[in-house]
Amino acid sequence: MTAEKAGFDHFMLKEIYEQPKAYRDTMGSRIDAAGGQVVLNEVKLTPQQIWDIHNIHIVACGTAYHAGLVGKAVIEQLARIPVEVDVASEYRYRDPIITANTLVIVVSQSGETADTLAALREARRSGARVIAITNVVGSSVSREADDVIVTWAGPEIAVASTKAYTSQLIAFYLLGLHFAQTLGLQDETMIRSTIAALLKLPEQVEQILAQAEQIKEYAEHIASHNDLFFIGRGSDYAVAQEGSLKLKEISYIHSEAYAAGELKHGTLALIEEGIPVIALATQEHLLEKTVSNIKEVKARGAQVFAIAFEGNPDIGKAVDLVFEIPRTLSLLAPALSVIPLQLLAYYASLARGNDVDKPRNLAKSVTVE
Ligand code: G6P
Repeated sequence: MTAEKAGFDHFMLKEIYEQPKAYRDTMGSRIDAAGGQVVLNEVKLTPQQIWDIHNIHIVACGTAYHAGLVGKAVIEQLARIPVEVDVASEYRYRDPIITANTLVIVVSQSGETADTLAALREARRSGARVIAITNVVGSSVSREADDVIVTWAGPEIAVASTKAYTSQLIAFYLLGLHFAQTLGLQDETMIRSTIAALLKLPEQVEQILAQAEQIKEYAEHIASHNDLFFIGRGSDYAVAQEGSLKLKEISYIHSEAYAAGELKHGTLALIEEGIPVIALATQEHLLEKTVSNIKEVKARGAQVFAIAFEGNPDIGKAVDLVFEIPRTLSLLAPALSVIPLQLLAYYASLARGNDVDKPRNLAKSVTVE
């Protein structure tokens, strides 16, 4: 077993460090950098079929659902197609409105999750076309979908998903760009600059990983707490939800992710002296609003740790501690801002003496409904 961990103490840490490679492999030959375009041959929808898509449903469970939340923002922004995101166990029972012009995207690392598979079958029965984003070639989901985008993250062993999640984000960026190119909705310069920024992500992840020690220190601090909050707006909120789930899964510290602007409608009552609040603050167009939400919790005694792009003095002044990530486009920020949160969950779990790779009560793949 030790050999398989390639010198890392746990599979989770190894998988966190494998992310630059997973990003590169998932982008691989799907990006024609010279031509400035995405080539997604595995999606066999014709341009006319893409034009005919009225709406998209993204369906998944757990961490894959959180990737879907980012996917919604990506597709809506790049391709201007309305997207709904559901957890698979709810989707099937809410009598979703599916027509022949609905595209359903199921996201599943294992490709075997019972609820996701059942949702896929339901969607196909209702006449929708289904694209699967999965990490396992030949999995049930990949066999039953119309089109399959494989995330080339490699085998993921730790129960807490890391590299599969970020590879799913890459798949959504590629799909969003593919739709945008086909629909001609974005100008060529925008597509080219997004592709250039995508290609820089692996190196930027490496830069973040080189700062892991800072996260470890903060993780040891929060390990003695029993409650904390994650806040963010827009895609930062989607990442906050993933960060909170990761922490709960393996450290067993209770946390809640909140849309920063929604705090004052109830949750603010739970903010008391010394409570850690982790603020995701990468969405530049929302920054002023996020800073004002940070001030609301600070005024009630919270200790705020922010994750923000480098060189952002306003954030630095508003919080107790800031972890800086390299700059990228707002749309791509989740692929960077989630990395410190994965490390945070890992080190907090370690500090609490938990079984990092095999948390209590959880399974890597859930094949019962
Ligand atoms: C389980 C795992 C989660 C995972 C979820 C969906 O609950 O513990 O980490 O996100 O299943 O798995 P899938 O293989 O469908 O992505």
